[in-house]
Amino acid sequence: MAIADDSTIKVAVVTGGGHGIGRALCRRLARDGAHVVVADIEQDAAETVASEIGGTAFGVDVSSEQDLVAMIERVEDEVGAIDLFLSNAGVGYGDGESGSASREGGMRPVEDRWAASWNINVMAHVYAARALVPRMIARGGGYLVSVASAAGLLSQIGDAAYSATKHASVAFAESLAITHGDEGIKVSVVCPQAVATRLIGMEDDSDISEGGFGGNDVDGILSADEVADCVVDGMLAGRFLILPHPQVTTYLQRKAGDYDRWIGGMRKFRRSLAM
Ligand SMILES: NC(=O)c1ccc[n+]([C@@H]2O[C@H](COP(=O)([O-])OP(=O)(O)OC[C@H]3O[C@@H](n4cnc5c(N)ncnc54)[C@H](O)[C@@H]3O)[C@@H](O)[C@H]2O)c1
Repeated sequence: MAIADDSTIKVAVVTGGGHGIGRALCRRLARDGAHVVVADIEQDAAETVASEIGGTAFGVDVSSEQDLVAMIERVEDEVGAIDLFLSNAGVGYGDGESGSASREGGMRPVEDRWAASWNINVMAHVYAARALVPRMIARGGGYLVSVASAAGLLSQIGDAAYSATKHASVAFAESLAITHGDEGIKVSVVCPQAVATRLIGMEDDSDISEGGFGGNDVDGILSADEVADCVVDGMLAGRFLILPHPQVTTYLQRKAGDYDRWIGGMRKFRRSLAM
């Protein structure tokens, strides 16, 4: 797969590749000629996708630096040098009963939703970069893509941990791009609004018209395949910020233009959702 600067992606790793956006990205990258490593905490799901696309499956918990680095080392030894690492695995639990700072999960119970969100949505990206940036610089370059969310630029009503960690993942991608761009490291960050996946309560392969929950579907819901195509288009164009829902640009401009008005608008939107 050839990208913006005519370099070729021969080996791509996609975390969270067993379902949803990650699965669609695995399929698209394989169609474009890359050998795709499908990495997921659900090993069975990773194996199903890998066998469909002729890729390689790894069962890995990206929130464990030890596991993630061991996988990267095995891929580089057994498959080949990683040209593209797509940090896509992510979680969102929803606020607990005591609100935004609560420890417990909302819709998907977890012992500490802040710790889990931080480790998966942010630290997994750091662990991958820590292991790969020196290797990529040594061989003349590489591509790191992270799937954050529009919640990392705006906010996710009803999930403070998701909003905060997605902001952090956008900020980390910015730092990578600024610090390592001159060393041949390309960086993109993907910030979609609603996508029809299990994350918003839909099953893989659901019809988009079935909608999501909690207002996720009020502003246009995309299929995982549509998002994967946007990601590849953005990479081909060499864009840092990839926005599958183009209206996010306008929302971001409005937020930056008048923060207090934007907070007021979000409160009104929240009331309309009866949360
Ligand atoms: N669906 C949306 O509306 C939406 C919107 C914006 C951003 N995103 C982001 O897109 C990314 C992909 O989510 P999705 O919507 O496809 O959801 P999904 O739940 O369908 O897929 C997430 C995948 O990540 C895997 N995963 C979860 N924890 C993991 C871990 N610790 N280690 C390895 N794999 C793990 C899951 O098994 C699953 O295969 C996430 O980062 C999510 O935050 C989703």
